[in-house]
Amino acid sequence: MPASLKLDRISKSFGTTKVLDEVDVEIRAGEFVSIVGASGCGKSTLLRIIAGLETQGAGHVRLDEVVVDAMAPRERNVAVVFQNYALYPHMTAFENIATPLATSRLSLYERLPVLGRLSRRRAKIRAGIAADVAAVAAQLRIEALLDRKPGQLSGGQRQRVALARALVRRPSLFLMDEPLSNLDAQLRVHMREEITELHSRLGATFVYVTHDQVEAMTMSDRIVMMDKGRVAQIGSPSDLYDRPATIAVARFIGSPAMNFLPAAADSSGALFHADRRLPVDTDRAGPVVVGLRPENVAIGPVYEGAALVGRIRRVEHHGHDRLVHLDLQSPLGGMLSARVSATDALSDPAEGCFVAVDFTGPAHVFDGDGLRRTSKVVRLGFGRIDTAAEAAE
Ligand SMILES: Nc1ncnc2c1ncn2[C@@H]1O[C@H](COP(=O)(O)OP(=O)(O)OP(=O)(O)O)[C@@H](O)[C@H]1O
Ligand SMILES: [Mg+2]
Repeated sequence: MPASLKLDRISKSFGTTKVLDEVDVEIRAGEFVSIVGASGCGKSTLLRIIAGLETQGAGHVRLDEVVVDAMAPRERNVAVVFQNYALYPHMTAFENIATPLATSRLSLYERLPVLGRLSRRRAKIRAGIAADVAAVAAQLRIEALLDRKPGQLSGGQRQRVALARALVRRPSLFLMDEPLSNLDAQLRVHMREEITELHSRLGATFVYVTHDQVEAMTMSDRIVMMDKGRVAQIGSPSDLYDRPATIAVARFIGSPAMNFLPAAADSSGALFHADRRLPVDTDRAGPVVVGLRPENVAIGPVYEGAALVGRIRRVEHHGHDRLVHLDLQSPLGGMLSARVSATDALSDPAEGCFVAVDFTGPAHVFDGDGLRRTSKVVRLGFGRIDTAAEAAE
């Protein structure tokens, strides 16, 4: 049975450094949740606290509504897979997978190689263990590798053995800490699919730590984005993509990354970049940062009164579309990238050209504290945009 997990105001300090600050997360039974965030933001520490490998300074961990703070890792029925697999190098894959079962099912005496034979129940238990290992090996398609030692396996195969070892105890909660980061790009994509498939087959609860936003976006039901020991946002991949709660989330989620333009809102909420009126309004006056995804930036021929003009610095070809990097021709300088599809009017932009820049989708507005503000794009597509001077007339 999958377990639900509730983290209730978890805090943790190492010495005087606070690494987790009142982390509240609720995960439903059977969910696949990723924990993402920059290096050092506390992901592994949080995972270790859930597993019982680390003690929190304050707060509670609940599994199926039961507080497990005082329980040892073994008692929590939680499996952990780490980045470095931690397989025993002198044991075969079979022995690596069977070890957790042997430890829990056989007594210390029964595990002794010679004396253990005197135990009547040992043969029966061993047969049960072998059957369980065979079943999990079939699930992960590693039946043919069971006699090999870790040194005789590829990275992806080792990863599967580590997963099998975690799986074999039928945990109700799976914790994974960057399990794919040692694999090459192609294998990562493949293992990503395997883990997603495994999740739907097992129906267990998965908590998956990664700093790779693509992994989080493609695999998860929901994502917990952490920033400096705090939860910045919890939501579905599209929640975080479409409505990032903070500028840190906006920076982290999405590839190619979001563009950011410094701007200021006047008393009516109209936004200006230097003296240029941007086609965006917000709710109150003050300095802001405007975030624009490259697919929501359009480029076209320069026209009189264009709010933003850029000079094409570089064009990256990505097959079905192109990423055009622009140097903004504004007193504030800055760069912007636009995603241009091959069917766009200006489908073959040349480096060095000047182009008008416009917005074709949502603009995200963040205040001085990096928090999302309400905003509205007042006009999409190309057209005349008044300068500050004209707007004041
Ligand atoms: N045992 C420890 N003693 C002291 N500081 C620690 C210890 N473990 C972790 N830290 C610190 O706590 C912070 C959070 O570490 P943690 O390993 O949880 O980060 P992370 O988000 O997993 O990072 P990464 O993406 O690099 O794995 C870091 O600043 C780290 O240096
Ligand atoms: Mg880590």
